[in-house]
Amino acid sequence: MKLFDVYPLFDVNIVKGKGCRTYDDKGNEYLDLYGGHAVISVGHAHPHYVEAVSTQVAQLGFYSNSVINTLQQDLAKKLGEICGYPDYQLFLINSGAEANENALKLSSFFNGRRKIVAVQKAFHGRTSAAVRVTDNPKIIAPINDNLPVEYVPLNDIEAMKKSLSSGDVCALIMEGVQGVGGIQISTKEYLSAVREECSKHNTVFIMDEIQSGYGRTGKFFAHQHFGVSPDIITVAKGIANGFPMGGVLISPKFTPVYGQLGTTFGGNHLACAAALAVLDIIKEEKLVENAAKVGGFLLSELKKMQGTKGIKEVRGLGLMIGIEFEESAKEIRRQLLFDEKVFTGASGEKVIRLLPPLCLSIEDAKLFLERFSSVLNKA
Ligand SMILES: Cc1ncc(COP(=O)(O)O)c(C=O)c1O
Repeated sequence: MKLFDVYPLFDVNIVKGKGCRTYDDKGNEYLDLYGGHAVISVGHAHPHYVEAVSTQVAQLGFYSNSVINTLQQDLAKKLGEICGYPDYQLFLINSGAEANENALKLSSFFNGRRKIVAVQKAFHGRTSAAVRVTDNPKIIAPINDNLPVEYVPLNDIEAMKKSLSSGDVCALIMEGVQGVGGIQISTKEYLSAVREECSKHNTVFIMDEIQSGYGRTGKFFAHQHFGVSPDIITVAKGIANGFPMGGVLISPKFTPVYGQLGTTFGGNHLACAAALAVLDIIKEEKLVENAAKVGGFLLSELKKMQGTKGIKEVRGLGLMIGIEFEESAKEIRRQLLFDEKVFTGASGEKVIRLLPPLCLSIEDAKLFLERFSSVLNKA
């Protein structure tokens, strides 16, 4: 059997990682400014994480959701405290798409409606409802195309108000900071207006913090920069530092009903052990604060390059940074990887996305800036 060929691949085989470094099968060391797509939150192979996961798998990797799992209870308590939503309820699944799928489903059970308002350029995953609210017709199959969705421009208060005013909108879903859309940041005014209009029309406000959450932007959730509280928050990626896991944080106004939601693997013992270790490390090593500090430094240094060397704009919050070029950035990214041994992400052709582990140091940020400049100076 061969693999179903769905990804264009870089010719690199990563076999090892440590902190903000990865290593290929030839022994080359890379600086990781990508975190495997914002997934590596606490750094590769962190000793506390390795120990927690190894101990748990040796004891009990999995048992079903039909019995008490105290690791889930511990995780809900610790997450509630650290993220600032101690009164919310937690439903655990295995991925970001599943988190959004369940958030949309729960919203529809809640108010009995079908129509969703989403934001232009949004990405919410590839399962049925999650992909339908993703603003990319190329990845929506005919089988997904039966949910009524309206896309509104980010930060356009009037367009959002108009869409919600029909009074039949089940949920408005948006990202804390748009990732795949090229690091697009909401305004405080827009988020306050969304909160107000959702409350007014009994529309559920879903905030997708799958990429922007878990400390990445220098607050636990990106929306906490703007002082609003959504009804549902979805998380995944950094939650378990690479162990597949997702979560739906649900406001107390939702009452759980047996049978409406469920999962075989979600919240299993091994995933919870990984997620608990991540929270311990985030707290112990002050990684949210580190993301604010190192991200702030990186952003201010990169902003100085705006308008030079083909860089059109630099946008970001904490360690979620987009560098938009006037032309395609493909070759720059390729040279960063192969000549300078730096992993970065992309958004479309023109934006380089930086999503490093949250433990990135100022020294590593400086090293990246040196290597980045070296590539730009060659161009
Ligand atoms: C904002 C956002 N939502 C949802 C998803 C989907 O997550 P997953 O790939 O774990 O299903 C992603 C993945 O990139 C994402 O960035």
